[in-house]
Amino acid sequence: MNQAKRKSSLSSSNTGKKATKKSIRVAVAIMAAGKGTRLKSQLPKVLHEVGGMPLLEHVIRTAARLVQPSDVYAIIGHEAERVRAAMAHTGINFVLQSEQRGTGHALMVAQEALSGYDNVIVLSGDAPMISSATITNLKDFHLAEQAAMTLLSAELENPTGYGRVLRKSPKSAEVLGIVEEKSASAAQKKLREINSGFYVFDVKELYSRIGELSTDNPHQEYYLTDMARVFRNARKRVVAWKTAIPSEVLGGNTRAELADIDQQIRFTKCRQLMADGVTIFYPATCVIDADVEIAPDSVIEPNVQLLGKTKIGANTRIRSYCVIRDSEIGSDVTVRPGSIIEGSQIASGAIIGPYSHLRPGSHIGERAHVGNFVETKKIKLGKGSKANHLTYLGDAEIGDSVNIGAGTITCNYDGVHKHTTIIDDGVFIGSDSTLVAPIRVGKGAYVGAASCITENVPDDALAIGRGRQVVKEGWARQKRAERERS
Ligand code: UD1
Ligand code: CA
Repeated sequence: MNQAKRKSSLSSSNTGKKATKKSIRVAVAIMAAGKGTRLKSQLPKVLHEVGGMPLLEHVIRTAARLVQPSDVYAIIGHEAERVRAAMAHTGINFVLQSEQRGTGHALMVAQEALSGYDNVIVLSGDAPMISSATITNLKDFHLAEQAAMTLLSAELENPTGYGRVLRKSPKSAEVLGIVEEKSASAAQKKLREINSGFYVFDVKELYSRIGELSTDNPHQEYYLTDMARVFRNARKRVVAWKTAIPSEVLGGNTRAELADIDQQIRFTKCRQLMADGVTIFYPATCVIDADVEIAPDSVIEPNVQLLGKTKIGANTRIRSYCVIRDSEIGSDVTVRPGSIIEGSQIASGAIIGPYSHLRPGSHIGERAHVGNFVETKKIKLGKGSKANHLTYLGDAEIGDSVNIGAGTITCNYDGVHKHTTIIDDGVFIGSDSTLVAPIRVGKGAYVGAASCITENVPDDALAIGRGRQVVKEGWARQKRAERERS
């Protein structure tokens, strides 16, 4: 890099005798105010989800790898309050562009927020695949070139719809201008090098000339892309840096583009998991969110959804048609087909399903079994305990080595309040029993099949709560005879 630096580039100032190195102040501005007309949606464009997260959240995460969240500014406008509320947890700043008059106008509105910085990295809120590594390269190139404006370009197979980069000459880094699709000549439309919508600007230069933008174009908007021409006219340096990974710059302007991006993000996620030792059959059929973690030697069968903050241990098998959200699953677990698990924890060696429904707060112990058509909610099921068939267990504390017979129901709700069922270690609950909470079944006790249990059962007792069986000898024979006579 040339040592005759400009003030806004890496600069050192002499304070007295000691030279102190002053680092450059860099902000990230994310343009996110647009309506997204082409999506035909009530939801603002940047809140549409790809890879299990809103578009804007992907971009914010990338920005937060480059600078502190306090140096990130999202420019919001259309449905601003909704966007702000959805992204408040990220800790970034927001700038309001109440009227959306183009990408150039978005940066005009952000002048006050950005004036304390030397450089600003501009990202698009609708292009979520950009990596921090690429943006770092772009920024380094900008500083080395001492440019007023540096844009990220990419060579696309199908450049339709994007702005095209007009270079001074094919080999030159210097850019003469950017022409939008709508204004491009037939020859310009053939150019495959596109403007990605990511830029680095020298803040002082940007705001000393941004007033020269005009709305003299088919959209009657202030185009940020026109800053290239403005700077050229003022003999300021404008350069382009071309990424070798064109897929990173794709934007989601239409539902079809969103689907493409979603597929790519999920494909990348699957690739990463496979590289880390996870087997995924037919990855194209699996939906795995960005934050999901899976340990090596686990197997994900076709048509599985793993969502939110789900964590899966080693050597676990998730069979087809399972949907698992925000849950922790240990190692050596089998989740059989068609199970739905949400906000739950499953310890190692457990077997779940087929067709189990684990609702939030289900804690399934080591080697426990939860089987066909069993619904659980807010329960603890102890080590080695089994509830294998057609059962509802809600608000229950169930000990170790308990057997819950088919058709057991914890009656946890009295119409007003929820009550707890406690089942101690080693209990056997016979099939088709109802346990009316609050209730406790003591250690080692038995409950006879088809009982309605309304009182506590002491340790080691047998409780039977059902009408006594009556046998009427010859009753059926007599009935038949009566029918034949009449
Ligand atoms: C823009 C570029 C185009 C580039 C493409 C890359 C311009 C004029 N054109 O086109 O050269 O190839 O991105 O994806 O910049 N936004 C605001 N405020 C506004 C208008 C837009 O914040 O007033 C935001 C949008 O929410 C969006 C981003 O800016 O996140 C880009 O706007 P969009 O309308 O999608 O621009 P493109 O037509 O894609
Ligand atoms: Ca766009």
